[in-house]
Amino acid sequence: MKLTPMAPKCGVEISGVTLATCSDSEMDEIKQVIYEHGVAVFRDQEFSPEDHIRFGKRWGGIDVNNYFPLQEEYNEIAIVKKEADEQTNIGGAWHTDHSYDQIPAMGSVLVARELPPQGGDTLWAHMGAAYDALPDDIKEEIDGLEAFHTADHVYKADGIYAQTDMGKNLRGQDLKTGAVHPVVIRHPHTGRKMLYVNGGFTINFVGQSREESLPLLQKLLDAALTDDNQCRLQWKPGTIAIWDNRTTWHNAMNDYQGHRREMHRITLSGEALAA
Ligand code: SIN
Repeated sequence: MKLTPMAPKCGVEISGVTLATCSDSEMDEIKQVIYEHGVAVFRDQEFSPEDHIRFGKRWGGIDVNNYFPLQEEYNEIAIVKKEADEQTNIGGAWHTDHSYDQIPAMGSVLVARELPPQGGDTLWAHMGAAYDALPDDIKEEIDGLEAFHTADHVYKADGIYAQTDMGKNLRGQDLKTGAVHPVVIRHPHTGRKMLYVNGGFTINFVGQSREESLPLLQKLLDAALTDDNQCRLQWKPGTIAIWDNRTTWHNAMNDYQGHRREMHRITLSGEALAA
């Protein structure tokens, strides 16, 4: 396998491996690379829905997303799509998937199925690098702090997506979610400290109201994005990205109005998070 960095502190492109039939030792190496670098990109892959599901199960299990439409024949696969006549995309702001779950999903395997002629890139930002770059006084302030995460304001029947043309595509609008996680976690496999708040789902610090939390939360959200901790993927047919939700945030660009984009996503099971 050959590893080519996508950016100084986030992401690698991996060549020389066929994901659908990779060996156990290649799988172990791929996992370690993703835990460390946050996201890995694979080009020119042939990956059927069956390959996708088999790969997710081999990794360690699949968490079926509660909200996105599911592939009719293969219910483990969530469809992340925007039709040519729709305006709003899924995931079009910086976030971390499933941080509202008690045991958040480890990450995702996203396969390009239909791409717009241009645009529709995905960005990731490395939260280990984000934590390292925080000033010492902020590191001290967030040491031992916990935060509450929920998806209710996003997916519920009166939530953010319901106000858009994407709302009609969603399931699970009556679900209630909520979980508390440390603001700084230790990555379960690398032990590296990661900033674990995100603009999509983090509401408040434990023991503080939303209003009391906002100044520090906003400071962290702003500080987490630096020029050198992000990478950007330009999708092509046959591209697959696998990312770690503990190591990264991601953001799907919505700059292809008038064109269709369809991606297939399997969400990989994770483990409880600790400081
Ligand atoms: C997401 O999983 O948030 C969407 C990513 C993408 O469509 O590029």
